[in-house]
Amino acid sequence: MALIKLTALSYDYPNTRGLDQLNLEINSGDFVCLMGPNGSGKSTLLRILSGLENASQGDYHFDGQAITADYLANPQDRQRLHQQIGLVFQNTDVQLFNTSVAEEVAFGPRQLGLSDAEVAQRVTDCLDLTHSSDLRERVPYQLSGGEKKRVALASVLALNPKVLLLDEPLNGLTIAAQQQMLTLLQALRAAGKTIVMASHNFKQVQAIEPRFVIFNVAHQIQADLSAAELAAQPEQQAELLTL
Ligand SMILES: Nc1ncnc2c1ncn2[C@@H]1O[C@H](COP(=O)(O)OP(=O)(O)OP(=O)(O)O)[C@@H](O)[C@H]1O
Ligand SMILES: [Mg+2]
Repeated sequence: MALIKLTALSYDYPNTRGLDQLNLEINSGDFVCLMGPNGSGKSTLLRILSGLENASQGDYHFDGQAITADYLANPQDRQRLHQQIGLVFQNTDVQLFNTSVAEEVAFGPRQLGLSDAEVAQRVTDCLDLTHSSDLRERVPYQLSGGEKKRVALASVLALNPKVLLLDEPLNGLTIAAQQQMLTLLQALRAAGKTIVMASHNFKQVQAIEPRFVIFNVAHQIQADLSAAELAAQPEQQAELLTL
């Protein structure tokens, strides 16, 4: 059974369509890169997968559970979903709200009711994993863009979710920091995480051979290709280089 299953899923903003009739299955352990033009629906899809929004039409199932408006309205159910599928936002400023980095990363595990010792361990581990230990006592909103991205990822990892959603995690990073982020994502994939990221950095992402789910301007899935399938399609590759 697919971990994530979308069936004829559409999403409408007040004045415009965000997603049109998506059918998509993502299995446990998949590494998916969402690509497509600006405004094609990548961020909207990540918000729906994380449970921040619910579909206007169609169905979303996570691990066999229908994620409906009613389900998301129940705080316990909502928390259960958030513990399993965590989103690192495109704009990390909206994600970081605590007074220190250590507090930021501790927030989620505390909400789960873990003991102080377990919370402390998770903070240390996740800051270490994201190369952010030196930021521990800093104020999150005063960090640089790249530092904020690492701390936001640490705070999501601290919940130990099955699925990691990342909205343009390479945006604004130096080439060296992009490589470091991709190396970390590969390590998380090797550790069994399912990863869905949106990116415009085709060349860098191609190197780690994800499955590519490609959107068009009509907010539909235009193509869904493994890295090997994509390698056999030079025209599709040329198009991705322009996104
Ligand atoms: N809060 C909103 N209110 C109204 N329309 C929105 C809102 N957010 C997104 N949209 C619209 O929904 C569509 C999909 O936007 P989305 O942000 O999902 O695209 P995207 O693929 O992530 O683009 P980008 O590559 O620029 O990040 C676009 O037409 C956009 O204008
Ligand atoms: Mg986006």
